[in-house]
Amino acid sequence: MDSMEINKTVAAILVAGIAYFVTGTVGTIFVREHVPKKAAIKIDVPEPAKSGPPAPAPLPPVANLLAKADLAAGESYATKVCGACHTFTNGGKAGLGPNLYNVVGGPHAHMQGFNYSNALKSKSGPWTFDELNEWLHKPSEYAPGTRMTFAGIANDQERANVIDYLHTLSPNPEPLPPPPK
Ligand code: HEC
Repeated sequence: MDSMEINKTVAAILVAGIAYFVTGTVGTIFVREHVPKKAAIKIDVPEPAKSGPPAPAPLPPVANLLAKADLAAGESYATKVCGACHTFTNGGKAGLGPNLYNVVGGPHAHMQGFNYSNALKSKSGPWTFDELNEWLHKPSEYAPGTRMTFAGIANDQERANVIDYLHTLSPNPEPLPPPPK
C-alpha cells in the first residue's frame, strides 16, 4: 500500500466519523425525545415472598352477621347446595361428606366412621361459629388438602345464614355468640 492509499483510507475513516457525528446531531435536533408520563404497559412485579404465601387475614367475628341471620334462607341454601353431599338429620347417612347433625360445637371430624382427610382430622378443638365461618368461606384455605371439593360461600351474610341453620341441628343448640361491643 502506498502513502496515497493510506491517505485515502484515513480520509474515508474521517468522513465516516464526521458523517456519524453529523447525523447524530441532526437527529437530536429534529427528533425530540418524547418520554411519556405514564408507562404504556403496566407490569406487575409481585413482591418477593418473604416466607411462603402470606397467611390470609382472618375474617371478622361472625357474631354480628349471625344476629341478623335469615334461618329460612340458610336452610334453603344448605338443602340445595350442601345437600348434594351432606345429610342434616339425626342419624342421617354420610354421602360424599359426613352427616352434619350436631356439628356446631362438636369436634372436627365429628362423625364416627367417616373417612376424613388428615387435613380435617389434624384440627383440634371444637367447631366454633368463627371456625365454621373460616371453613365455609374457603375450605381449601382453612384445611389445605381437605376432601371437601366445595369452593366456599363468598357472601358473608349467606355464609352466616347457613351457619345459623347448622347450629339448629342439635337437641341442644349452642347459644349464638354475643355480638362484640
Ligand atoms: C362436593 C361435596 C360437598 C359439598 C357440596 C359440601 N361438602 Fe361439606 N364436606 C364434604 C366432605 C367430603 C367433607 C369431609 C372433608 C375432609 O375430610 O377433608 C366435608 C366436611 C364438612 C364439614 C366438617 C364436618 C366434620 O365432621 O368436621 C362441615 C361442617 C361441612 N362439610 C359443611 C358443609 C356445608 C355447610 C356445605 C354447603 C355450604 C358443604 N359442606 C358442602 C363434601 C361436601
